[in-house]
Formats: sequence, structure tokens, C-alpha cells
Amino acid sequence: MLMRWGFKETYEIGNSQMTWSKLRHFLGPIAFALLLVYGAVAGLTGSPLLETAPAAAQKGGAVPGNFSGNLSDAELWRAIRKGVQGRSDMQDPQAGVLVQSQGDNWRAFKNGPLSQFGGWLLLAAIVVLGLFRALRGQVKIDEGPSGQTIERFNQIERAAHWLLASSFIYLALTGLNLSYGRYWLLPLIGPETFSTLTYYGKITHNYVAFAFMAGLISIFVLWVRDNILDGSDLPWILAGGGLLWKGSHPPAKKFNFGQKVIFWIVIFGGVSLAWSGLSLVFSSVIAPWGVTFGFLNIFGFGLPTDLTPLQEVQLSVLWHSITSTIMVAVIIAHIYIGTTLGMEGAIGAVSDGQVDVNWLKEHHSLWAEEIGVIGSSSHTGGGEQPAE
Ligand code: HEM
Repeated sequence: MLMRWGFKETYEIGNSQMTWSKLRHFLGPIAFALLLVYGAVAGLTGSPLLETAPAAAQKGGAVPGNFSGNLSDAELWRAIRKGVQGRSDMQDPQAGVLVQSQGDNWRAFKNGPLSQFGGWLLLAAIVVLGLFRALRGQVKIDEGPSGQTIERFNQIERAAHWLLASSFIYLALTGLNLSYGRYWLLPLIGPETFSTLTYYGKITHNYVAFAFMAGLISIFVLWVRDNILDGSDLPWILAGGGLLWKGSHPPAKKFNFGQKVIFWIVIFGGVSLAWSGLSLVFSSVIAPWGVTFGFLNIFGFGLPTDLTPLQEVQLSVLWHSITSTIMVAVIIAHIYIGTTLGMEGAIGAVSDGQVDVNWLKEHHSLWAEEIGVIGSSSHTGGGEQPAE
């Protein structure tokens, strides 16, 4: 039994004596055991003060109150509802705001007009292509295939194209599932399969995005030189790309004006998608909107620049959604014209790299001339010259 207590070197316990240095060996484990017991009880009761009474909010559904001294509860909750910012020890910079009411408007806009606009845009793209197909049919090689082929894209160009294309298609499918899956896929496959699919789809979406960025950088490096607009684009534009009438073949270099437009939409849209996506994954580090609005204000837009981290995230979600939907609509058109459904002979350029010489003369006569496939005067006649 402990007889006396104080800061002296020797204590008497029963008949034996114990030195302070001996006692110290027991204090550590005892303190640790007490801490464990405290942690367990605090964890079970949910209260660091070890109170077992339910939290105020759980008492019969009553709104918690009487915490605010002279300030009435109604005023307190009004302030919270209006997004008053307090302080929090949590690492998350958004933790100081309990309720952000603009979130309601944001969600209503995202699930309402924005989602409808996206659906209509994708439907419009498919309808326009359907009409084009019905009126124009497949764009054929007017001269017919010559049987002679030439390499259009080398292996590196094709690998870059498919890295970009496959990752984009995966991102588009998993992204569209996040926006629209609950309306059409969920009723088809049931909640369990749908939630598993959507969960893994979302996680992999974040990783596949890096393959998309690699593809984007690759095609930029490989093709930017051939996608700069120049005077040769004007006749192509004036002739409607030769797509509207049979037998019309305006001259074009390696890429025609339509392809250049697709290229720049992919580059600017892709960078914008990647940046807004990164700002969602690394939201505590990347906050693009305050800076962007500051820049736009130079032109008199008068946009708010002092945005909270949550507002930054909300804007990034909207932008990511708008840009991706527009890009998907554009890429649907690109896929249509790139496959044999839309155009005879184009797909070879990205499959084995080979295209028919007559196809090349009809669609890229200036380039065919540049690489020595046809003579300098033959491009204006629209592929009437035989291959050399
Ligand atoms: C099944 C999907 C796809 C098919 C069949 C396809 C087909 C093609 C073809 C045939 C070309 C070469 C056209 C020519 O030789 O003149 C091409 C080029 C190109 N593709 Fe794709 N593509 C697909 C998906 C994508 C995707 C998803 C992207 C971007 C996100 C993309 C971006 C490009 C770009 C930037 C070019 C060069 C410019 C152009 O020809 O428009 N492609 N593609």
C-alpha cells in the first residue's frame, strides 16, 4: 500500500521500499492503459468529455439551440444558412463553412438545365449526322480506289492517335455515366451492379485522365506544325470542304480546314478538361477560377474574384461538364467521318497507316503534291490525274 506521496526519492509500499526510479517504470504503462480506456470510452460515447447523453440535435428532432447566449437561435441559424464562415481546426479549408446555400442553386442548375442541354446537344449531333448520311450518303472515293496505297501516318502518329482516342472514349463513357447513368443504366442493370460500376468507373476515370493528357501532348507535338491555319484553307472553306457535293475536291495540305478545327478543339478543349479535372482532384492546391475571373475583368466582365474553395470546386465541375459534353458531340462527328460509315478509305490512315492514292489526291492534293505523289498542276482538277 502506498503510504506517503510526494516528490522524494523513496516510497514505502507495504513492508518494501521503492525508489522513484523503480516507480517510473510502472507509470508509463499505467498512463498508456488509462489513455486507451479513455480513447475507447470517448470513441463509444462520441464525446471527449465522456458524456453519454445524446447530442443536442438528436433530442427528439429538436433544432439544437441555446448555445448562442444573447443571440437568438433563429439569428444563429440564419447566419449559418447564409454561409457565415467560422474557424475550424480541420485541415480542409472548406471546413469553416457549415452550410453553403448557393450549393442548392448549383445542384439545381447542374441536374436541371445543364444536364438537359448536354442531352439535347448529344442528340442533336446524332440527328445532324443521320440527316447528313441520309442526304449525302457515304463520301466515296469519286475516282474509285486505285489499288495503290501510300503511308499517311507512321506508327508513332497512329500510337499517339489511339492513346488519345481510347483514353478519351473511356473518360467519356465513365463521365457520361456519372451524369446520365442513373436515368438509363440504373433501371437496366439494377442498383448493385450500377453502384459497383460507377464506383470503379469514377476511380479509374481519374487515372485514365493521365493517359489522355499524354496522348494530348503527343498529338500536339506531332501535328501542330501541320495544323496552323494558312491561305490554303480559304478555298476549302468556300467549297464547303467538298463534303456537300459529289465530285468537289478543294485542295488541302496534310490536314484540311475541317481537320484543323477538330485538332484545335481537341487541344484547347482537352487542356481545359485536363486542368478543370486536375483542379477537382487536387482542389486544395489548384483554384483556377479566381485568377481566370480576374483576367476576364480586364475586359469589363465584373466577375467575383474572392471565391471560396467550395465555389472554385463548383465552378470546375460545371466547366468540366460543359467542355466534355461539347467535345463528345464534336468527337461523335469525327468518329462518323473517320469510319467507313461516313467516308470511304479514311480509316486506313489510323489503322495500318495506308490510304489509297486516289483518296489522297481527292482529299489532300496539296500534300500529295508536297510528298511527290502527284504533279504540281493536278490538284485543282479534283483527283482527275492518275497516280504517278
Ligand atoms: C473510334 C474512334 C475514332 C476513329 C475511328 C478515328 C478516326 C480518325 C481518322 C481516320 C483520322 C485521320 C483522318 C485523315 O487521314 O485525314 C483521325 C485523325 C484525328 N483524330 Fe481520330 N478517330 C477516333 C477517335 C478520336 C478521338 C476520341 C480523338 C480525340 C479526342 C481523335 C482525334 C483526332 C485528331 C485530332 C485527328 C487529326 C485531325 C483530324 O483528322 O481530324 N480521334 N481520326
